[in-house]
Amino acid sequence: MPNTFLNNLNWRFATKKFDPKKKISAKNLDQILKAIQLTPSSYGLQPYHIIVVTDQKLKDKIKKYSFLQSQVSDCSHLLIFCTRTDLKKRINDYIDLVSDGNKLKKINLQGFKLMTMTQVGKLKTPEALTWSAKQTYLALGFAMAACAELKIDSCPMEGFMPKQVDKLLKLPTYLKSVVLLPIGYRAQGPEHPKFRYPKNDLFSQK
Ligand SMILES: Cc1cc2nc3c(=O)[nH]c(=O)nc-3n(C[C@H](O)[C@H](O)[C@H](O)COP(=O)(O)O)c2cc1C
Repeated sequence: MPNTFLNNLNWRFATKKFDPKKKISAKNLDQILKAIQLTPSSYGLQPYHIIVVTDQKLKDKIKKYSFLQSQVSDCSHLLIFCTRTDLKKRINDYIDLVSDGNKLKKINLQGFKLMTMTQVGKLKTPEALTWSAKQTYLALGFAMAACAELKIDSCPMEGFMPKQVDKLLKLPTYLKSVVLLPIGYRAQGPEHPKFRYPKNDLFSQK
């Protein structure tokens, strides 16, 4: 089957059983992380941080906070998608990084700064979390698509206890875990045929 985007989306499934012996190469991991890095985000602020866990003891502990779902401990790498609430700092960092010491570039970015500080910099923590989480889920989607292209299996997971995981990982207060992505190689195929709502349910034209 040709390696097309749609074929890859048909190939992938939320993998429940990973083969714990099969590990992802450093090169493939790098490509998946690159896809996350290239994911578009609102204003380009990329308000997330992804923790890549390979330590088996840590994966086992996280499994306990994931309703014992075996994907967490049997995967090759566990990606923990965390969302950021430090948006003011994020905007200032963006301007510093983009202008790269060039004063004129920094001055030219003042309009952007004013707009983003007004639109998102002012958000209080709960709203900042909601806004940042939307961006984080885009990165999750791109990561899953990149995995599928590399014939690497993955399972998006919200079935875990974020507060306990954040505590275990000693996350700073501006970072909150929102979704997990165990990645690796399937031990078995899907248990059920793929279900999707029909096109006339999902789409309409005007
Ligand atoms: C945000 C999100 C959270 C999910 N959480 C879990 C989970 O905790 N455990 C699990 O086994 N599957 C989880 N899934 C997988 C979905 O059940 C699965 O993607 C959906 O049923 C479609 O099946 P498919 O991915 O195999 O095509 C999650 C999927 C998404 C997108």
